[in-house]
Amino acid sequence: MTKPIPILLDGDPGHDDAMAWMLAQSSPLLEIRGVTSVCGNQTIEKTTYNAQRVMTLLGIDAPLAKGRTGPLIAEHMAAPSVHGESGLDGPVLPEPAVFPVDLPACALMAKVLEESPEPVTLVPTGPLTNVASLLLTRPDLKGKIAGISMMGGGVTHGNWTPAAEFNILVDPEAADLVFRSGVPITMAGLDVTEKALVFPEDFETIRALDNPVASVVADWLEFFYGFHRKLGYAGAPVHDAVAVAALIAPELFHMEEMYVAVETQGTYCRGATIGDRYHLSDHAPNARVILDLDREGFVGLLTKAAASYS
Ligand code: RIB
Ligand code: CA
Repeated sequence: MTKPIPILLDGDPGHDDAMAWMLAQSSPLLEIRGVTSVCGNQTIEKTTYNAQRVMTLLGIDAPLAKGRTGPLIAEHMAAPSVHGESGLDGPVLPEPAVFPVDLPACALMAKVLEESPEPVTLVPTGPLTNVASLLLTRPDLKGKIAGISMMGGGVTHGNWTPAAEFNILVDPEAADLVFRSGVPITMAGLDVTEKALVFPEDFETIRALDNPVASVVADWLEFFYGFHRKLGYAGAPVHDAVAVAALIAPELFHMEEMYVAVETQGTYCRGATIGDRYHLSDHAPNARVILDLDREGFVGLLTKAAASYS
């Protein structure tokens, strides 16, 4: 049996972060070495509390650390319209049995990297604040990062402004630093994640699994779909789970290597990720950008993950 890939989860749960974490926890191909919360869809207090509750529900047995109170430079903006005031509205979750360690997120990341005999993959599914803080404070550990499989950006359009996707827009300076770091990046942006749709009939398949995690996942999907249906989506786009699924089953995805730059200025384009798809610039590719997926295969992974709790 192949050795599982060691990973660090970094997110702002968030319905789709929570489902990404479920996928990671249930896969024998991955080993979660640590979890960090980031200020993103809600305040750091709320995303940390949600991380605690999600880890408790899923039985994730790894150290958790709380992220910075805000982005590197920018003012924080939340997304209550998508995830609710709590940052994870919907079904009732267990009260936390998991508590943050007494280290900032980037220090826990550094500790995990230092203690690991092999390089570790980072899986950020929120703004890139913690990852950038790690690279700023411990550049010596870059070689211990196997890669970054992240959800954020999009090479054709945004979802929070016409040009920018939410995770990148919240902390463009952090994203800029990460994309210029030289660490190999797999980018699950809106190009693919808006196609990572779980349809209402899939919710029912998951609900019918009839275990406590599957029931919560079905409720999360319903809640998440509630927002997206009004925008014309045919299902719930489980954005963040693509960053995990790309590690477990890369054959489900179409990826292209290209140079991606992050716009930190601009009247209209702050937070945009500019992908050089036709290699027009002098820059060598710095990212594998996921552009398409086998939707049914992706939903199958999520369903199998939920079934593993039966
Ligand atoms: O734009 C999608 C991202 O923002 C995802 O990470 C999701 O959790 C949302 O908050
Ligand atoms: Ca997220």
